[in-house]
Amino acid sequence: MNADETPRLNRRHLLGLEDCSREEIRLILDTADSFKEVIERPIRKVPALRGKNIVNLFFEPSTRTRLSFEIAEKQLSADTLNFTASASSVVKGETLRDTARNIEAMKVDCVVVRHSASGAPLFLSQCLERAVVVNAGDGAHEHPTQGLLDLLTIRDHMGRIEGLRVAIMGDITHSRVARSNIWGLRTMGASLVVCGPPTLIPPDLEATGVEVTHRLEEAIDGADVIYALRIQLERQQGGLFPSLREYARLFGITPERMAHAKPEAIVMHPGPINRGVELDSAVADGSRSVILDQVTNGIAIRMAVLYLLNGGGEREDA
Ligand code: CP
Repeated sequence: MNADETPRLNRRHLLGLEDCSREEIRLILDTADSFKEVIERPIRKVPALRGKNIVNLFFEPSTRTRLSFEIAEKQLSADTLNFTASASSVVKGETLRDTARNIEAMKVDCVVVRHSASGAPLFLSQCLERAVVVNAGDGAHEHPTQGLLDLLTIRDHMGRIEGLRVAIMGDITHSRVARSNIWGLRTMGASLVVCGPPTLIPPDLEATGVEVTHRLEEAIDGADVIYALRIQLERQQGGLFPSLREYARLFGITPERMAHAKPEAIVMHPGPINRGVELDSAVADGSRSVILDQVTNGIAIRMAVLYLLNGGGEREDA
């Protein structure tokens, strides 16, 4: 495929799924599908982003997102640089804007950013004159590539997204994963039910057409996809539920509770898992779990996003 023929996203940055159209999401999923073949090759490399400099700017810990972006960049032949806030001039007081402008002065083409502040990727996109910004998770706002890899995993296993009933369990209020999934799944035509303690569900959610329940069995009943979220202890002020033991008793997904689910229902989780809290190990590691498929799909999705936003170029994969 020549650069001129490369399908494009109608945007410079990927900051969230809220404003992504069905056509854009479908393009990313289909492009990711075509990259899966590259991931299975003995030599997992295409020259699509040869000559592009990409910086992974991580101000928060990450295992899956950071490693899969780095693998995706290397497989696309980009030159990858990793920035860790604790080993940078941020510790000397340099601002996010100055950090970004200095990085751009080094002719960086693309910045992948994770930050604890909601809106940090949007702010960066306003500071940078030329570079592309990809949101790798910002505060409790969005995690768009996680939402996309989840959509791809659902499509892989269920053959479609439209018309499915997806149950999202847990800490909806503090979850950027929930927010990106809700936007993406709605755009792709799924119906949504969320379940958790009232203190962890935004009060205005029901008005947007999302079904809300506080009874786990009610959410699981008839669901095609059961998506457990991590309880985010680091984002809570405390006191939103009595204890982890109480949370696990009322909202933890166990083999007994999975008996209420459809036989073909799949179980998902973005990781890292609090085993024995939101998911019993027998469910996390059981036959319905597609959690590791989500991780593998993270590479294909991040390849697709980087490829489409950075102009693609010659894939030479024929
Ligand atoms: N799902 C997710 O974002 O995991 P990491 O925090 O390990 O990147």
